[in-house]
Amino acid sequence: MKLWEGRFENPTAANADGFNDSLPFDKKLWKEDIAASVAHATMLGKQKIITETETEKITDGLRAVYTDIESGKLEIAGAEDIHSFVENELVKRIGDAGKKLHTARSRNDQVATDFRLYTRTAFEKTAHSLARLITSLCGLAEKGLDFIMPGYTHLRKAQPMCAGHFWNAYSEMFLRDLDRIHGSAERANVMPLGSGALAGTSYPIDRSMTARLLGFEKPCENSLDGVSDRDFVCEYLFDGSLIMMHLSRLCEDMILYSTEEFGFIEIPDEYSTGSSIMPQKKNPDVCELTRGKTGRVYGHLTAMLTLLKALPLAYDKDLQEDKEAFFDAETQVLNCVNIMAEMLEHVAFKPERAAVAAESEFCCATDVADYLAKKGVPFRDAHAVTGKIVRDCIAKGATLQSMTYEEYKSYDAHFDKDIVQTVKAKNCADARTSFGGASAASVKNNLQSIKQRLEKYTG
Ligand code: ARG
Repeated sequence: MKLWEGRFENPTAANADGFNDSLPFDKKLWKEDIAASVAHATMLGKQKIITETETEKITDGLRAVYTDIESGKLEIAGAEDIHSFVENELVKRIGDAGKKLHTARSRNDQVATDFRLYTRTAFEKTAHSLARLITSLCGLAEKGLDFIMPGYTHLRKAQPMCAGHFWNAYSEMFLRDLDRIHGSAERANVMPLGSGALAGTSYPIDRSMTARLLGFEKPCENSLDGVSDRDFVCEYLFDGSLIMMHLSRLCEDMILYSTEEFGFIEIPDEYSTGSSIMPQKKNPDVCELTRGKTGRVYGHLTAMLTLLKALPLAYDKDLQEDKEAFFDAETQVLNCVNIMAEMLEHVAFKPERAAVAAESEFCCATDVADYLAKKGVPFRDAHAVTGKIVRDCIAKGATLQSMTYEEYKSYDAHFDKDIVQTVKAKNCADARTSFGGASAASVKNNLQSIKQRLEKYTG
């Protein structure tokens, strides 16, 4: 039975029904819909808008519907949306009292409330998964404290760094994501219920009570905004998009670093796949798929922002499109964060290859220039001298490490014997002791701080 058929002479066309129905996807909200209805009925009873007996019948009936859906006895089908389904089922079971449940509410405030309750859990799950991901990254950073690797700019070797620095950089990104998720969750925790269709209600409802019962911080203060606001959906999609972007960058780095050409890390067999034709292949599919799914989540954000653009107040059916975008984004984000957290626990760092790479391609050139600058040579001149050294080395097939002290001295009188030690990649990395820098000591401090900041969220 449709909740609104009284006004209509003719039934809707079968195709129009199918087109309008949201039950196939909003059935996901059944728990939230029942919880919000129980709270609403309890409040109606307390405010004497319905009788005590009616309240009891409704809440008991709703709980029985809950139990039957949970046990699989009751299949969610045969209604326009989850709100109609639950109400129809209640009326089927308890009769007239059930018909009073919808007093002083509309599906417009109902769906907005259900959805906020649902997103609350989604925010929690995402925060939990992010915390696990950061923990995995911390494990790799910890092991990385003893090793070095090259850092890159323009995807060209730039400067040696403690390997932990690389993993910590990603922890910083995901910590910001965690912070964003918490901020968004806080903003989302405002209750639309009681906004009615758009303008509130003439019944003496107690919205603070319903908010309290449902764990919302407070009821929203404007009913028009209450039924039409989907900022919380956009925020999740944006937060999720940033998480995916960070994951995608991590994946891209891991894809590169696990190639034969780089060879810094090994992605374990358990998280790789082979080729049907090339027997030698071991492909980083988990990383590639995560990188690929990033576009899909961005797509949901774009869809939602576009949906809301120029949407007149208050509720419009366009808003029904919010759910599929959200549900899919949530699934993709959680799946990707979780698989990555798990995979990272098994990723092996290959210190020998990384150490060789950290010393090659003149990765230590900045340190040669800095060496001279610290002895009083203006940095610009030091840069030029070092550039000349590099150019000559390339011509001769020499390296900064193969050059003798005398050879260095022939370029500039400021070079002393210790230049030979200075240009060792490990020493270059360890010299970067600035706050937030790439020395093992700085990286260790960074790691400690990351763990502390994470603890603030995980308690
Ligand atoms: N299925 C609808 C949605 O998801 C519920 C609200 C319907 N309200 C209405 N006035 N048609 O948005």
